[in-house]
Amino acid sequence: MIENNFVLKGSIVYSEDKDTINTIQEGYVVCQDGKCLGAYSTLPDEYKSLKLYDYGKSLIMPGMTDLHVHAPQYTFRGIGMDKELLDWLNTYTFPEEAKYKDIEYAKKAYKYFTKDLQRTFSTRAVVFGTLHNQATIELMDQLEETGMITYVGKVNMDRNGGVDLEEEDAATSLENTRKWLEAIDGKYKNTRPILTPRFIPSCSDELMRGLTDIADEKDLRIQSHLSENLSEVAWVQELVPESTSYGNAYEIFGAMGNPDRPTIMAHCVYSNDEEMEILKKYGAFIAHCADSNMNLTSGIAPIRKYMDAGLNVGLGTDVAAGSSMNMVKTMLITLQASKMYYRLVNTDVKPLTFEQVFYLATIGGGKYFGQVGSFKYGYDFDAIVVDDSKMYSMRDMTVRERVERMCYNDADAIIMDKFVKGNRIYSIK
Ligand code: GUN
Ligand code: FE
Repeated sequence: MIENNFVLKGSIVYSEDKDTINTIQEGYVVCQDGKCLGAYSTLPDEYKSLKLYDYGKSLIMPGMTDLHVHAPQYTFRGIGMDKELLDWLNTYTFPEEAKYKDIEYAKKAYKYFTKDLQRTFSTRAVVFGTLHNQATIELMDQLEETGMITYVGKVNMDRNGGVDLEEEDAATSLENTRKWLEAIDGKYKNTRPILTPRFIPSCSDELMRGLTDIADEKDLRIQSHLSENLSEVAWVQELVPESTSYGNAYEIFGAMGNPDRPTIMAHCVYSNDEEMEILKKYGAFIAHCADSNMNLTSGIAPIRKYMDAGLNVGLGTDVAAGSSMNMVKTMLITLQASKMYYRLVNTDVKPLTFEQVFYLATIGGGKYFGQVGSFKYGYDFDAIVVDDSKMYSMRDMTVRERVERMCYNDADAIIMDKFVKGNRIYSIK
C-alpha cells in the first residue's frame, strides 16, 4: 500500500468549474492525509520531501462518480434492449432481480459486478440492490472490500412487481428496511445505506410515507427514478391523482430530501418547469443516464437547461438499461445526446461542451459526496491514472486533446492506478 502523504507526477487534468478544464502537461498533485493539496506545474518546496510517484506521460485525473447503477442488473447488461421502460422491467428486469432471493446466486453475480466496477473510471458510486436484505448486505460487504466509497440501497417495492418481486405490503417492506439498517449499523467504513423506493409505480402511498419517516428519523438519504418515460409519467399521474407533476408526487410524500440530505432522482427526461423548481428547491441531484435513455427509447434529458438553471446534475451509467459501467462512454453519449436535443428538439438549448461533460462526470456527481471530483485544494484525494500512450498520433497533442480523444476512443485508455481518499485501491499491476 502506497503511503498516504505523497505526490503524483504526470499530465494533470481536472475541472474547477463547469466551463473550464485545467491541464498541466507535466505537473504534480499533492496528497496529504487523504486530501488534495492542489495541482502544480512546479512542485512547491514544502512538498519536495514527500514520496513522489512518477507516472511519466500518463494522464492523472479525478476519479469519477457513477450516480446511478443497478448492481443486480449487471448480469444482463448489453442484452434485451428491444423494449421501452415498463415492458423492459416486466420482461427482463424483474425476473432477473427475483433471482437474488437465492444468496448463492447473489454472491456470485455481485462478485462479477464488484470486480468490474473496481476496474472502471469510477471511485464513487450510488447503487441499487434488490428488495432482498441478505443479498443487499452481501453486495455491501463486497463493495466495502473494494475501498470505493458507495451508497447502496435495499430496494422497496410493495406493488406492481408481480408475485416474485414484491414485498407483501407496506408494513412488511418497512420492517424489512429497518431490519436491513439494523444488520449493517456500524459495519462499514466506506459503504453507506440509502433508502431506495424503486419508483412510485412500485411503492404504495403508505410505503412512500413510511420510508420518508425512516429517512427523517435516521438521517438517511433517498434515491429513486423520476420522469424517465412518457407512459411511466402518465401512470404516476393516475396513481397519485392529486399531484401536479411526478416530482410533486414525491414531494407530497416528503421524498425530495433537503440540501443537507439530497435525494437523487435518476433520469428527469421529462421534467417540466414545475418539476425543475421542485428539484431546485430541495437541492436534489439529477442522475443523467444518457446511454440508458437511448437504449430504452426514453428520450433526451435537456441537461444544459438544467445546468443553466442551477440544478445539481451528475452522470449515471444505469446498468442494465445502460450497457456498461464505463463513465467515459457515458460522457460521450451525454455529449452526443445533447447535440441531438439541440438539433431535433429545441435549438434554444445549446449542446453541452466537452468541458461541461467532464465536469458532470467528476465534480457534478462528486458533489453528492462532498468535496469530491477535483484537484482543488482541500478536496478528497480521489484520482485515476490513465495510460493513453497507445493513442499517440502523428501530431503533438495537448492534454485537453488527449482527454477528449480518450472520451471518443476509450478502448485504448488503460486505467493503471486508482486512489480514494489517498488510498491506492486498485492497480493494474
Ligand atoms: N424505473 C424503475 N426501475 C427502473 C430500473 O431498474 N431501471 C430504469 N432504467 N428505470 C427504472
Ligand atoms: Fe435506474
